[in-house]
Amino acid sequence: MAAGKGTRLKSQHPKVLHEVGGKPLLAHVIAAATRVVPAEDVYAIIGHEAERVRAATESSGVNFVLQNEQRGTGHALMVAQDALAGYAHVIVLSGDAPLISSATIGQLLNFHLDQNAAMTLLSADLDDPTGYGRVIHENSRSAAVKAIVEEKAASSSQKKLKEINSGFYVFAVNDLYGHIDRLSTDNAHAEYYLTDMAALLRRAGKRVVAWKTPSAFEVLGGNTRGELSAIDQMMRAAKCRQLMADGVTIFFPQTCVIDGDVHVAPDTVIEPYVQLLGTTKIGANCRIRSYSVIRDSEIADNVTVRPGCIMEDSRVAAGAILGPYSHLRPGSEIGEDAHVGNFVETKKIKLGKGSKANHLTYLGDAEIGAGVNVGAGTITCNYDGINKHKTVIDDGVFIGSDSTLVAPVRVGKGAYVGAASCITDNVPEDALAIGRARQIVKEGWAVGKRAERKK
Ligand code: UD1
Ligand code: CA
Repeated sequence: MAAGKGTRLKSQHPKVLHEVGGKPLLAHVIAAATRVVPAEDVYAIIGHEAERVRAATESSGVNFVLQNEQRGTGHALMVAQDALAGYAHVIVLSGDAPLISSATIGQLLNFHLDQNAAMTLLSADLDDPTGYGRVIHENSRSAAVKAIVEEKAASSSQKKLKEINSGFYVFAVNDLYGHIDRLSTDNAHAEYYLTDMAALLRRAGKRVVAWKTPSAFEVLGGNTRGELSAIDQMMRAAKCRQLMADGVTIFFPQTCVIDGDVHVAPDTVIEPYVQLLGTTKIGANCRIRSYSVIRDSEIADNVTVRPGCIMEDSRVAAGAILGPYSHLRPGSEIGEDAHVGNFVETKKIKLGKGSKANHLTYLGDAEIGAGVNVGAGTITCNYDGINKHKTVIDDGVFIGSDSTLVAPVRVGKGAYVGAASCITDNVPEDALAIGRARQIVKEGWAVGKRAERKK
C-alpha cells in the first residue's frame, strides 16, 4: 500500500518517496518484498502522485495498481481485487514502514499458513504505542484476535495496550474478497479501514490471528519528519555496525552517512563526517578523510582521499591520491597512482597512470595519458558556447602552469607546453609549444615613474 498522501509530513512530495538510509521508503519495502516473492508477484498500490512514485520504483520490476481516490487502506485492497484474483494468499505491506525484513515477512506467512487463518496480522509491543491501532485478543493467552481498534476510536483502557497492529498482514484471498464489501466508512476519517477486516472476518466465523514479532523496531512507520529521522539514524547506525563487523574502521560513526548499498573492503579507514552514497564501492586499505562526499563511485585498493573531496559517478584506480578539496564530476576516471590535488575539478576525463594534476585546475572532456604533469592553474577550454570538444594529452607530456588548452586540441607524446600558454593548435610529439606574448623589459622605467609622482 503506497497510495496515501502522507498529510502528517506537510510535504509537496508523496510520503513513500521520502528517503531514509538513502532510498525512498517504498524502495525499502519493495526490496524486502522481492526477497520473499518474485517481483512479478508484487503489486504496489499507488495513487497520490502515482506517476512520480511509479517512476521512482519501476526499475524494481514490480507491478502497479492504481488507487485513484485514496479512501483508506481497506479501499486500497478493494482496487487490487482483480490483480490478486489468481492468488490463494496475499501478503499486505505498508509502503511507509521501511525497516521490515524479509525474515519477518517469511515468519508471518509461515504462521498464517500453519494457523490456517483467514487473516494474520503482524503485531509488536511498543513502549510508546501512540498513533497505532491496538490489537484486541480473544483472551490473553491466545493468538486469536477479536478486533483492531484505531487510536482515535480506542477507549482509555484500550489506549494502554502496548500491542500494536503493524499494518502488515497475510490474508486468504477468498476470505478477504468474500467479505471486503462489508467494510464501512463509519469512523473518524470516513475511510474504509483494512483493520476492520479483523472483526468482520471473526464475526463470519473465520480465524483471525496475530503473530507478535520480537523485532518490534521493524514495524516503525515514517509518518512524521521526526519518525523519518529516527528511522534514518537506525539504518545508518546499523550500516556502520555491519561495515565495522566486516573489517572497516570507522572513527566516530555517528557522524558518517553511509547508504545501504555501499560496499567497503576491509582495513579501509573512514574518518569522521564522511558521506558514502548510492552504489559507491571502496576497496581495501583506503583512507577516506573527513568531509568527503562520494556518490555512485568506485574506488580501488590503497587509495587516499584527503579531506573535503566531492566525487560523483567516477572511478579511481589503486594507489591514487585525491584532494584535499578535489571535485570529481561524473565520468572522471583516475588512473593508478595518479594524483589529483587541491581545487582541481574534473569531468568526463581519463587521467593515466602516475599522472598528476595537483593544483587549481579544470580538466573536462579530456584524455590524458600516463606520466603527465599538469601544471597549476591549467584549464581545458572544452566548451565553445554551443558544443563540448575534446582535449588529448599523450603520455609523458609536461603542461606548464597557467596554460589554457583550447579544444579540440592534442598535445603529442613527450611534448612540453610553456607556462601561461594558450594552446589553440595541436602540439607535435616531443615539441615545445609556447603560446603567449613575449616579455618586454623597460630598463629604468620605474625610476621615471616615481619622479613623475613627486611633482
Ligand atoms: C495504519 C493502520 C494502523 C496501524 C498502522 C501501522 C489502518 C486504518 N490503520 O494506520 O492500525 O497501526 O497503519 O503503521 O489501516 N494507503 C493507501 N491508500 C489509502 C490509504 C493509505 O495506499 O487510501 C497506504 C499509505 O500510503 C501507507 C499505508 O497505506 O503506506 C498505511 O496508511 P497510513 O495512512 O499511514 O495508516 P496509519 O494511520 O499509519
Ligand atoms: Ca502509517
